[in-house]
Amino acid sequence: MCGIIGYVGKMTNIQRVLIDGLKTLEYRGYDSAGLAYVDDGVKIIKCQGKISSLEEKIDESKQGKLGIAHTRWATHGGASDINSHPHRVGSVTLVHNGIIENYIDLKRLLEKEDYVFKTDTDTEVAVALLDYLKRKGLWNNLEVIREFAGYIKGSYAMGIIFDDELDTIYATRKDSPLIVGVGQAANLIASDVSAVLKFTKEYCLLDNYDVVKMTENEVEFYDKDLQNICKEKLEVNWNIEQAEKNGYEHFMLKEIHEEANILRDTINEYVDSLNSFVEKMPDLKKYNKIHIVACGSAMHAGIIGKYLFENQVGIETTVEVASEYRYKKVFYDDKTLVIVISQSGETADTIASLRKAKENNIDTLAIVNVVSSTIAREADQVLYIRAGMEIAVATTKAYVLQVAMLMLINLKMMIERDKITSRELNELLAILKKSPEYVEKVLKEEKKYFDIAEKIYRDNDIFFIGRGIDYAICMEGSLKIKEVSYIHSEAYQAGELKHGTISLIEDHTTVIAVMTDEELSLKTISNIKEVKARGADVILLTKKELDDNYEFVSDKIVLPKVNSYIIPFLAIIPLQLIAYQVARLRGCDIDKPRNLAKSVTVE
Ligand code: G6P
Repeated sequence: MCGIIGYVGKMTNIQRVLIDGLKTLEYRGYDSAGLAYVDDGVKIIKCQGKISSLEEKIDESKQGKLGIAHTRWATHGGASDINSHPHRVGSVTLVHNGIIENYIDLKRLLEKEDYVFKTDTDTEVAVALLDYLKRKGLWNNLEVIREFAGYIKGSYAMGIIFDDELDTIYATRKDSPLIVGVGQAANLIASDVSAVLKFTKEYCLLDNYDVVKMTENEVEFYDKDLQNICKEKLEVNWNIEQAEKNGYEHFMLKEIHEEANILRDTINEYVDSLNSFVEKMPDLKKYNKIHIVACGSAMHAGIIGKYLFENQVGIETTVEVASEYRYKKVFYDDKTLVIVISQSGETADTIASLRKAKENNIDTLAIVNVVSSTIAREADQVLYIRAGMEIAVATTKAYVLQVAMLMLINLKMMIERDKITSRELNELLAILKKSPEYVEKVLKEEKKYFDIAEKIYRDNDIFFIGRGIDYAICMEGSLKIKEVSYIHSEAYQAGELKHGTISLIEDHTTVIAVMTDEELSLKTISNIKEVKARGADVILLTKKELDDNYEFVSDKIVLPKVNSYIIPFLAIIPLQLIAYQVARLRGCDIDKPRNLAKSVTVE
């Protein structure tokens, strides 16, 4: 949700430096982009469109060693040249990620002070406020930022250039992510570490209201009262290659193909021996109720968790969309555990839900990919998935690991509650260790999935049906299709489709049926027949044990014979690859689907 970067250092080709930095942040938003650099005063270049449009406008012969830049996902004010960042008012230039919620009140106040606004953005109000505070002449630039914080309701991560200190970048944050890269030859601010990797692997995190002041040679940190503070230096354990496609046509495809290896890394980290597994997983004995809270695909992973926890552990589990959970009446007791799931660790609604649980003194556990993200830092306990950098906006590999992590948590609870014999346990741990080999097997059938995609890519609608855990898989399969290919898609509990939506089934409507649950398979077959009788072309995703000569399906994907425990993360792989190929055949912008952003840091 908007990406920002600021650079001050020895390089003099500042426009190129900023553009390259923005490219690594483009997953955060891509409807407009802009940069401001210092070259005999502040110069701004900005425009609607992707970073490639901005790149066409830059003049690399112009020199500069300091600048700030922004890639936008519009919230206030449509995507247009004028609404793009940076915004400049008076003597202040600003890039901003977040939402100034009280911007209308502030705008009225500033209009009384003769400010005239040219854009529909909340950010122009923020920069006008900084200029207004500065013009009062009472404070230095640090103090202006401190005063500014007192006026604002909402969230912000900001990079600021003041005209009277053109060798310095100021930055501050509240509830929107911002890190500080500290290098030998450059200092940087960025929405995430991927943007600073080219210059340094060392970075510091900012807490809410912290202010940083940086020049080429020095970085100073201040807390909200402007006390000088020291920050711990962290080191990124990713490398720049992870941010490249390595021969794949798209990041989405590359990331799906990474699923076996990252699964190996994650499982090996938690399951080296039974004893260490028990120790590494949190103690969950005391809970009798679990709330899983997340957004998007992470929420779909949570639904798989719910089926596992309820069926195998016998613990009541609810799954809620974070944007609802944060505002609804929630019934907690002292044996409730809240599990939040988030790839980025920065999703605004998930953070708010986590904070709600904490305010109610409820224990929290986070499943997160990005190390030291806000959720990772604020949750009582964290289980990291080791997906590495995920760049495609539509998540694939992180989802698979989220499901795997929920399986590990499930196993831990089964052990704690004597729900599993030691023989069964050893078998499951062995199968989890071996699961990357099965992922590889499923990936090897790519051509088959691509052939199916070839048959359905011109469809207007694709329905998914399944029961139980298969329904949870359908939800994610359906989301993948609509996110990346823009084909209308819906997922239904197989038994529910007939209560209305079946009226949409016509001759040759595609229905993808997921049927991996042995206990429910006969029921699912009946539902497949119901849609078939209305003309649907059915693609069946099932597993070896349930495979039969189903003459009523048009295509069939059969997962290898394996302990059903790991079927959920195997089953999603063909669906991810079908969605990918459907989008590719339709000529969609796969890694950056329209209107989306990877990290949704606003409500
Ligand atoms: C965005 C992404 C989704 C993701 C969701 C939650 O909508 O496009 O792919 O599932 O946010 O993100 P999180 O980082 O919290 O997992």
